[in-house]
Amino acid sequence: MPSGKPAQSELLISARNVHKTYRLGRILVPVLHGVDLDVKAGEWVAVLGASGSGKSTLLHILGSLDRPDEQDGKRGTVSFHGQDVHQQSAWVQNEYRNGKVGFVFQFYHLLPEMTVAENTALAAMIRLGRFGYQKHHHEIREAANTLLDAFGLGDRLDHRPAELSGGERQRVAIARALMNEPEILLADEPTGNLDSVTGGQILDVVARTHSERGLAIVMVTHDQTVADRADRIVSLESGRIV
Ligand SMILES: Nc1ncnc2c1ncn2[C@@H]1O[C@H](COP(=O)(O)OP(=O)(O)O)[C@@H](O)[C@H]1O
Ligand SMILES: [Mg+2]
Repeated sequence: MPSGKPAQSELLISARNVHKTYRLGRILVPVLHGVDLDVKAGEWVAVLGASGSGKSTLLHILGSLDRPDEQDGKRGTVSFHGQDVHQQSAWVQNEYRNGKVGFVFQFYHLLPEMTVAENTALAAMIRLGRFGYQKHHHEIREAANTLLDAFGLGDRLDHRPAELSGGERQRVAIARALMNEPEILLADEPTGNLDSVTGGQILDVVARTHSERGLAIVMVTHDQTVADRADRIVSLESGRIV
Protein backbone atom coordinates (compact mmCIF):
# COMPACT_ATOMS: atom_id res chain seq x y z
CA MET A 1 0.00 0.00 0.00
CA PRO A 2 1.57 3.28 -1.03
CA SER A 3 1.52 5.76 1.83
CA GLY A 4 -0.55 8.91 1.54
CA LYS A 5 -3.23 9.74 -0.95
CA PRO A 6 -2.50 8.86 -4.57
CA ALA A 7 -2.89 11.58 -7.18
CA GLN A 8 -6.50 11.47 -8.34
CA SER A 9 -5.58 11.79 -11.99
CA GLU A 10 -4.37 8.20 -12.40
CA LEU A 11 -6.90 5.83 -13.97
CA LEU A 12 -7.34 2.79 -11.75
CA ILE A 13 -10.21 0.74 -13.15
CA SER A 14 -11.74 1.09 -16.55
CA ALA A 15 -14.69 -0.97 -17.79
CA ARG A 16 -15.47 -0.91 -21.51
CA ASN A 17 -18.50 -2.26 -23.33
CA VAL A 18 -19.34 -4.78 -20.62
CA HIS A 19 -22.28 -7.03 -21.47
CA LYS A 20 -23.85 -9.69 -19.29
CA THR A 21 -26.82 -11.96 -19.87
CA TYR A 22 -27.77 -14.69 -17.41
CA ARG A 23 -29.14 -17.93 -18.76
CA LEU A 24 -31.73 -19.80 -16.73
CA GLY A 25 -32.27 -22.95 -18.78
CA ARG A 26 -33.67 -21.61 -22.06
CA ILE A 27 -34.58 -18.22 -20.62
CA LEU A 28 -32.18 -15.34 -21.20
CA VAL A 29 -32.01 -12.58 -18.61
CA PRO A 30 -30.14 -9.67 -20.20
CA VAL A 31 -28.67 -7.38 -17.54
CA LEU A 32 -25.72 -5.26 -18.77
CA HIS A 33 -25.74 -3.78 -22.28
CA GLY A 34 -22.39 -2.12 -22.80
CA VAL A 35 -21.32 -0.60 -19.51
CA ASP A 36 -18.46 1.92 -19.60
CA LEU A 37 -17.03 3.14 -16.31
CA ASP A 38 -13.76 4.80 -15.30
CA VAL A 39 -12.58 5.07 -11.71
CA LYS A 40 -9.48 7.04 -10.82
CA ALA A 41 -7.06 6.14 -8.03
CA GLY A 42 -8.44 7.39 -4.74
CA GLU A 43 -11.85 8.28 -6.19
CA TRP A 44 -15.16 7.32 -4.55
CA VAL A 45 -17.82 6.60 -7.16
CA ALA A 46 -21.41 5.69 -6.35
CA VAL A 47 -23.41 3.68 -8.87
CA LEU A 48 -27.07 4.42 -8.32
CA GLY A 49 -29.64 2.02 -9.74
CA ALA A 50 -33.01 0.43 -9.04
CA SER A 51 -33.27 -3.06 -7.61
CA GLY A 52 -32.58 -5.56 -10.39
CA SER A 53 -30.75 -3.03 -12.57
CA GLY A 54 -27.54 -5.08 -12.49
CA LYS A 55 -25.53 -3.32 -9.77
CA SER A 56 -24.30 -6.50 -8.10
CA THR A 57 -23.59 -8.07 -11.48
CA LEU A 58 -21.44 -5.09 -12.44
CA LEU A 59 -19.56 -5.16 -9.13
CA HIS A 60 -18.85 -8.89 -9.50
CA ILE A 61 -17.43 -8.31 -12.98
CA LEU A 62 -15.30 -5.36 -11.80
CA GLY A 63 -13.91 -7.57 -9.03
CA SER A 64 -13.32 -10.56 -11.33
CA LEU A 65 -15.82 -12.72 -9.45
CA ASP A 66 -17.54 -13.03 -12.83
CA ARG A 67 -16.62 -12.31 -16.47
CA PRO A 68 -18.21 -10.16 -19.15
CA ASP A 69 -19.99 -11.94 -22.01
CA GLU A 70 -18.99 -11.81 -25.62
CA GLN A 71 -21.13 -9.53 -27.73
CA ASP A 72 -20.86 -9.71 -31.54
CA GLY A 73 -17.68 -11.74 -31.16
CA LYS A 74 -16.02 -9.24 -28.83
CA ARG A 75 -15.69 -9.37 -25.08
CA GLY A 76 -15.97 -6.20 -23.04
CA THR A 77 -13.03 -5.46 -20.81
CA VAL A 78 -12.18 -4.45 -17.27
CA SER A 79 -8.71 -2.95 -16.97
CA PHE A 80 -6.84 -2.40 -13.72
CA HIS A 81 -3.79 -0.14 -14.10
CA GLY A 82 -4.19 -0.72 -17.83
CA GLN A 83 -4.16 -4.56 -17.68
CA ASP A 84 -7.21 -6.49 -18.84
CA VAL A 85 -8.21 -8.30 -15.64
CA HIS A 86 -10.09 -11.16 -17.27
CA GLN A 87 -7.23 -11.99 -19.68
CA GLN A 88 -4.74 -12.64 -16.88
CA SER A 89 -3.66 -16.06 -15.61
CA ALA A 90 -5.70 -17.65 -12.83
CA TRP A 91 -2.91 -16.80 -10.38
CA VAL A 92 -2.90 -13.11 -11.31
CA GLN A 93 -6.70 -12.97 -11.16
CA ASN A 94 -6.62 -14.53 -7.68
CA GLU A 95 -4.06 -11.98 -6.57
CA TYR A 96 -6.29 -9.22 -7.98
CA ARG A 97 -9.42 -10.52 -6.20
CA ASN A 98 -7.67 -11.22 -2.93
CA GLY A 99 -5.09 -8.46 -2.81
CA LYS A 100 -6.02 -5.47 -4.96
CA VAL A 101 -9.75 -5.46 -4.33
CA GLY A 102 -11.70 -5.49 -1.08
CA PHE A 103 -15.35 -6.59 -1.13
CA VAL A 104 -18.09 -5.46 1.24
CA PHE A 105 -21.55 -6.98 0.89
CA GLN A 106 -25.02 -6.02 2.09
CA PHE A 107 -25.34 -9.13 4.24
CA TYR A 108 -21.75 -9.03 5.60
CA HIS A 109 -20.93 -12.65 4.64
CA LEU A 110 -19.01 -13.36 7.86
CA LEU A 111 -18.35 -16.97 8.80
CA PRO A 112 -20.57 -17.73 11.82
CA GLU A 113 -18.26 -20.24 13.52
CA MET A 114 -15.26 -17.91 13.45
CA THR A 115 -14.55 -15.06 15.85
CA VAL A 116 -14.38 -11.42 14.83
CA ALA A 117 -10.56 -11.55 14.81
CA GLU A 118 -10.53 -14.78 12.79
CA ASN A 119 -13.05 -13.47 10.26
CA THR A 120 -10.84 -10.45 9.69
CA ALA A 121 -7.59 -12.41 9.47
CA LEU A 122 -9.26 -14.82 7.04
CA ALA A 123 -8.64 -12.44 4.13
CA ALA A 124 -4.88 -12.71 4.70
CA MET A 125 -5.15 -16.47 5.18
CA ILE A 126 -6.85 -16.85 1.80
CA ARG A 127 -4.33 -14.64 0.07
CA LEU A 128 -1.18 -16.15 1.59
CA GLY A 129 -2.27 -19.76 1.79
CA ARG A 130 -1.76 -22.04 4.78
CA PHE A 131 2.04 -21.87 4.95
CA GLY A 132 2.24 -18.14 4.35
CA TYR A 133 -0.36 -17.62 7.02
CA GLN A 134 1.47 -19.80 9.53
CA LYS A 135 4.70 -17.94 8.85
CA HIS A 136 3.15 -14.50 9.34
CA HIS A 137 0.54 -15.51 11.87
CA HIS A 138 1.56 -12.96 14.51
CA GLU A 139 1.76 -9.95 12.19
CA ILE A 140 -1.55 -10.89 10.61
CA ARG A 141 -3.29 -11.18 13.97
CA GLU A 142 -1.81 -7.87 15.02
CA ALA A 143 -2.87 -6.14 11.80
CA ALA A 144 -6.41 -7.54 12.19
CA ASN A 145 -6.61 -6.37 15.80
CA THR A 146 -5.33 -2.89 14.88
CA LEU A 147 -7.98 -2.53 12.18
CA LEU A 148 -10.74 -3.79 14.47
CA ASP A 149 -9.58 -1.47 17.21
CA ALA A 150 -9.72 1.49 14.84
CA PHE A 151 -13.32 0.57 14.04
CA GLY A 152 -14.30 0.44 17.71
CA LEU A 153 -14.32 -3.35 17.94
CA GLY A 154 -11.25 -3.81 20.11
CA ASP A 155 -13.37 -5.34 22.87
CA ARG A 156 -15.19 -7.70 20.49
CA LEU A 157 -12.27 -9.68 19.06
CA ASP A 158 -13.38 -13.03 20.44
CA HIS A 159 -17.08 -12.58 19.77
CA ARG A 160 -18.88 -14.51 17.04
CA PRO A 161 -20.87 -12.63 14.39
CA ALA A 162 -24.18 -13.75 15.96
CA GLU A 163 -23.20 -11.83 19.12
CA LEU A 164 -22.87 -8.54 17.21
CA SER A 165 -25.28 -5.91 15.94
CA GLY A 166 -25.68 -5.36 12.20
CA GLY A 167 -23.50 -2.26 12.26
CA GLU A 168 -20.77 -4.09 14.16
CA ARG A 169 -20.91 -6.98 11.69
CA GLN A 170 -20.50 -4.60 8.79
CA ARG A 171 -17.51 -2.96 10.49
CA VAL A 172 -15.92 -6.41 10.80
CA ALA A 173 -16.62 -6.99 7.10
CA ILE A 174 -14.95 -3.68 6.24
CA ALA A 175 -11.95 -4.57 8.40
CA ARG A 176 -11.72 -7.90 6.56
CA ALA A 177 -11.92 -6.09 3.21
CA LEU A 178 -9.00 -3.82 4.22
CA MET A 179 -6.85 -6.61 5.62
CA ASN A 180 -4.80 -7.06 2.43
CA GLU A 181 -4.49 -3.30 1.90
CA PRO A 182 -6.42 -3.18 -1.38
CA GLU A 183 -6.37 -0.28 -3.80
CA ILE A 184 -10.11 -0.33 -4.31
CA LEU A 185 -13.13 -1.23 -2.22
CA LEU A 186 -16.15 -2.69 -4.03
CA ALA A 187 -19.14 -2.16 -1.78
CA ASP A 188 -22.51 -3.72 -2.61
CA GLU A 189 -25.26 -1.80 -0.79
CA PRO A 190 -23.14 -1.77 2.39
CA THR A 191 -25.86 -0.01 4.39
CA GLY A 192 -28.80 -1.77 2.75
CA ASN A 193 -29.55 -3.92 5.77
CA LEU A 194 -29.09 -1.21 8.43
CA ASP A 195 -31.24 1.56 9.89
CA SER A 196 -30.34 5.06 8.72
CA VAL A 197 -28.37 6.05 11.85
CA THR A 198 -26.26 2.87 11.81
CA GLY A 199 -25.95 3.10 8.04
CA GLY A 200 -24.64 6.64 8.46
CA GLN A 201 -22.00 5.38 10.90
CA ILE A 202 -20.90 2.76 8.39
CA LEU A 203 -20.63 5.43 5.70
CA ASP A 204 -18.52 7.48 8.14
CA VAL A 205 -16.16 4.50 8.48
CA VAL A 206 -16.06 4.15 4.68
CA ALA A 207 -15.42 7.89 4.28
CA ARG A 208 -12.61 7.81 6.82
CA THR A 209 -11.02 4.85 5.08
CA HIS A 210 -11.34 6.66 1.76
CA SER A 211 -9.66 9.82 2.97
CA GLU A 212 -7.02 8.32 5.28
CA ARG A 213 -5.88 5.54 2.96
CA GLY A 214 -6.60 7.19 -0.37
CA LEU A 215 -8.66 4.13 -1.17
CA ALA A 216 -10.76 4.15 -4.35
CA ILE A 217 -14.34 2.98 -3.84
CA VAL A 218 -17.10 1.79 -6.11
CA MET A 219 -20.24 1.65 -4.03
CA VAL A 220 -23.50 0.50 -5.57
CA THR A 221 -26.79 1.52 -3.99
CA HIS A 222 -30.43 2.22 -4.77
CA ASP A 223 -30.45 5.03 -2.17
CA GLN A 224 -29.74 8.59 -3.30
CA THR A 225 -28.78 9.77 0.21
CA VAL A 226 -26.17 6.99 0.44
CA ALA A 227 -24.88 7.83 -3.05
CA ASP A 228 -24.59 11.50 -2.05
CA ARG A 229 -21.62 10.62 0.20
CA ALA A 230 -19.46 9.76 -2.83
CA ASP A 231 -17.21 12.09 -4.86
CA ARG A 232 -19.19 11.30 -8.00
CA ILE A 233 -22.50 9.59 -8.79
CA VAL A 234 -23.34 7.69 -11.96
CA SER A 235 -26.57 5.84 -12.73
CA LEU A 236 -27.10 2.35 -14.03
CA GLU A 237 -30.17 2.39 -16.26
CA SER A 238 -31.28 -0.11 -18.90
CA GLY A 239 -27.97 -1.94 -18.54
CA ARG A 240 -25.77 1.12 -19.20
CA ILE A 241 -24.05 3.81 -17.17
CA VAL A 242 -25.71 7.15 -17.90
N1 LIG B 1 -27.02 -15.91 -11.20
C1 LIG B 1 -28.10 -15.40 -11.80
N2 LIG B 1 -28.84 -16.13 -12.65
C2 LIG B 1 -29.89 -15.61 -13.28
N3 LIG B 1 -30.33 -14.33 -13.14
C3 LIG B 1 -29.64 -13.56 -12.30
C4 LIG B 1 -28.50 -14.03 -11.58
N4 LIG B 1 -28.02 -13.01 -10.80
C5 LIG B 1 -28.84 -11.95 -11.05
N5 LIG B 1 -29.81 -12.28 -11.93
C6 LIG B 1 -30.84 -11.37 -12.46
O1 LIG B 1 -30.17 -10.28 -13.08
C7 LIG B 1 -30.81 -9.06 -12.80
C8 LIG B 1 -29.82 -8.10 -12.14
O2 LIG B 1 -29.42 -8.64 -10.89
P1 LIG B 1 -28.45 -7.87 -9.90
O3 LIG B 1 -27.17 -7.60 -10.58
O4 LIG B 1 -28.40 -8.67 -8.65
O5 LIG B 1 -29.22 -6.49 -9.68
P2 LIG B 1 -29.15 -5.44 -8.47
O6 LIG B 1 -27.92 -5.74 -7.68
O7 LIG B 1 -29.11 -4.10 -9.13
O8 LIG B 1 -30.40 -5.61 -7.67
C9 LIG B 1 -32.00 -9.39 -11.92
O9 LIG B 1 -33.13 -9.45 -12.75
C10 LIG B 1 -31.66 -10.74 -11.35
O10 LIG B 1 -32.81 -11.49 -11.11
MG1 LIG C 1 -27.65 -6.26 -5.72
